[in-house]
Amino acid sequence: MNDRADGATRRGFLTALASGAAFAGLPQTPALAEGPQGRIEPFYGAHQAGVVTPAQTHAYFTVFDLTTRKRADVAALMRDWTESAAQLTAGKAPPPLVGDADYAVEPDGVEISGLDPARLTITFGFGPGLFEKDGRDRFGLKSLRPEAFVDLPNFPGEQLAPARTGGDLIVQYCADNPQVAFHAARALGSRAYGLASLRWVQSGFVSDYGPGKTPRNLMGFKDGTGNPHTDNPQDMHDVVWAGEEAPAWMRGGSYIVVRRARMALEHWERTKVAFQEQTFGRQKRSGAPFGKDGEFDALDLDAKDGDGNPIIPENSHVGIAHRAAEGGMRVLRRSYSYNDGANVTAERWPPWRQAMEFDAGLVFVCFQRDLRTGFIPIFENMSRFDMMNQFVTNTGGGHWACPGGAREGDYVGRALLEA
Ligand code: HEM
Repeated sequence: MNDRADGATRRGFLTALASGAAFAGLPQTPALAEGPQGRIEPFYGAHQAGVVTPAQTHAYFTVFDLTTRKRADVAALMRDWTESAAQLTAGKAPPPLVGDADYAVEPDGVEISGLDPARLTITFGFGPGLFEKDGRDRFGLKSLRPEAFVDLPNFPGEQLAPARTGGDLIVQYCADNPQVAFHAARALGSRAYGLASLRWVQSGFVSDYGPGKTPRNLMGFKDGTGNPHTDNPQDMHDVVWAGEEAPAWMRGGSYIVVRRARMALEHWERTKVAFQEQTFGRQKRSGAPFGKDGEFDALDLDAKDGDGNPIIPENSHVGIAHRAAEGGMRVLRRSYSYNDGANVTAERWPPWRQAMEFDAGLVFVCFQRDLRTGFIPIFENMSRFDMMNQFVTNTGGGHWACPGGAREGDYVGRALLEA
């Protein structure tokens, strides 16, 4: 295995080593357990995984700022991340880290040895800063920014902390095992050393309630009922995937919006269930529309009670969101709950509790074909009128363009970075 004799680069040598040798922790051909933990989500394909993939139970989001000034470095990072992601999602060791010879470490993956890939998906997105930052076209990519990838306006009531907001690159890791997701986040994160620095991270979880069952969020409501169906190609075409209107590099991709939405749970739990139901516009236990029994019974926003008032309040969460959907403004939601310890908080509504409270809520995640017909117009209304705002505050997040998927041998974002 002499790289010099072959004329191969050090990088090529290391990659060859990676694919030829079994590491202490992760064998190259893993023996996968039968059952859910052994399942693999394909990494390569026309679309990136982790968008229409049925939600795994755990998520980890890492957001980076690019510190390099060279586009070629960004391309090298994306190539390396793609190769590593393809390996990890298949339950294999990523290629060894390449760096200063004295410090180069071969990741042995021991911390996840014995764990299966658990449907790990790794999804990459490019932030506005890749196209322009502080008025500078720092990578010569400004002209390739998609029209649909506009900046988010400021929304009423949001309290976005800079340390949890924005960033040049996002990587979303989802798996049915929290350690697998976090291990992948660290494995890729450390490969960005010297090129990009970590800006913020967020973990999330959602329970598996069983086949066909909608999970509940921390406010106790079923969350996901009115989502477009991921097994309906027409819906995914219309709502999720960027098409001919997008620059070539973006076709088959999707725009992600992440919002860290803190919930005033102490307050919420002290409100009457009837009021909670008015807030969301659905029944709490069943998830059904008012006056119906089934969770998936049709929502009729025009139905009126005996006094002529709408049965589903116009300013309920679903009243606003469903009216938007009827107007063609749609997104695919893929949110996770979070709990990040506790801190002192002052609530936004009487009795204005001030106390140590759990910092918990929803990592709201949605994908869409165009931000201008997706998150932005829906949330413009919501942030002004939604009854839910009394209990929810957006404290961070951002938006990123997730390019189309890569074919084997290619890497995510190549059509942009080598344009
Ligand atoms: C903490 C924040 C949020 C919570 C707790 C929450 C919770 C819910 C719940 C319980 C439902 C009813 C069940 C369902 O259809 O899934 C719902 C529906 C929905 N939500 Fe949210 N949501 C939040 C934020 C948002 C945001 C920021 C958007 C913006 C796009 C949004 C868009 C929707 C849509 C489109 C629906 C379906 C409406 C329909 O039936 O057509 N949600 N949400």
